[in-house]
Amino acid sequence: MVSIKKLKEKAFLDVEFLSRKLKNPIIIAASPLTERVEMIEKLISCDVGAIVIKTIQLDCQKTHEKGFIKKYNNGLINSTTYSEDDLSAWISKLKLIKNADRIIASIYSTSSKRIIHAINCLSEVGIQDVELSISCPSDSDCQVFNPLKIYGIMKEITLNCKANIIIKISAIDDFVNKAKAAIDGGASAICISDSIPVVKVDLNSKSLEGSCIIGYSGSPIKPIVQRAIYELIKHKVKVPIIGVGGISCLEDVLEYLHLGCCAVQICSWPLVEGYKVINELIIQLNDWCLKNNTRITDIIGTIKD
Ligand SMILES: Cc1cc2nc3c(=O)[nH]c(=O)nc-3n(C[C@H](O)[C@H](O)[C@H](O)COP(=O)(O)O)c2cc1C
Repeated sequence: MVSIKKLKEKAFLDVEFLSRKLKNPIIIAASPLTERVEMIEKLISCDVGAIVIKTIQLDCQKTHEKGFIKKYNNGLINSTTYSEDDLSAWISKLKLIKNADRIIASIYSTSSKRIIHAINCLSEVGIQDVELSISCPSDSDCQVFNPLKIYGIMKEITLNCKANIIIKISAIDDFVNKAKAAIDGGASAICISDSIPVVKVDLNSKSLEGSCIIGYSGSPIKPIVQRAIYELIKHKVKVPIIGVGGISCLEDVLEYLHLGCCAVQICSWPLVEGYKVINELIIQLNDWCLKNNTRITDIIGTIKD
């Protein structure tokens, strides 16, 4: 059992996030870490700003294959896709979670009708922020999400739902046009990036690991994601940007915030090292702000061009 350390003297770590404030800019990304109620409650006890649950897949005709997660080249490769639990199972799980106001739901479907139904069900259990995850590397169906499809789906969702929609895209493949289409359709924020699509050749079997395109995450993808964020800012993307990719220390968080992100998400690091690193990270961020006599909001977007 990990003992959670609490902050002694509190710095100003809170950030504006959509229609509310987060206690701090540290968000746990959709992943196997955010699938089980007990784990979500442990992460909440670490005082994270928010938690994005494992993506709920709404296209019920799909089967759930478990997939693999492996260490590779200082990061992780994985062939996993979505949560094993469906929407109704998640609604029951969400009712059990205390402090559910810190939960962001993650959903996926190619159908705006199913997305709108899910958002309405989630709002009945108090979920006001929804991340639409449309870039899973191991799901070839995600390729339908070109800028036109993204605009159309976002427009329908925002006409029919009150929730704040965060669109989660990948740091490759037309990300500027995808982000712009999502914003034109009414998205409230951009989350970038999902795991980066890669292949890994297995010389023993002379085939591809997982027999398909898989996801790469962790430290090696950080510069790729930061470049994408830099491009989004250069192209005057006007909604908040949430940076995700390769965070494994305080400096990585500070880099994303200086670059212009309003918050960050973290996945591979605690997946490998355990959730205790998140508790330590929040303490370090607090100490850094106290030492530098600064608020988190004062450093966002302060990088010199
Ligand atoms: C094993 C694994 C499972 C993941 N599952 C999801 C998911 O269900 N939905 C999603 O949007 N992203 C998922 N991701 C992507 C992460 O949320 C995150 O965007 C990505 O790993 C980059 O962050 P990191 O470098 O901190 O891991 C997953 C990543 C990994 C490694």
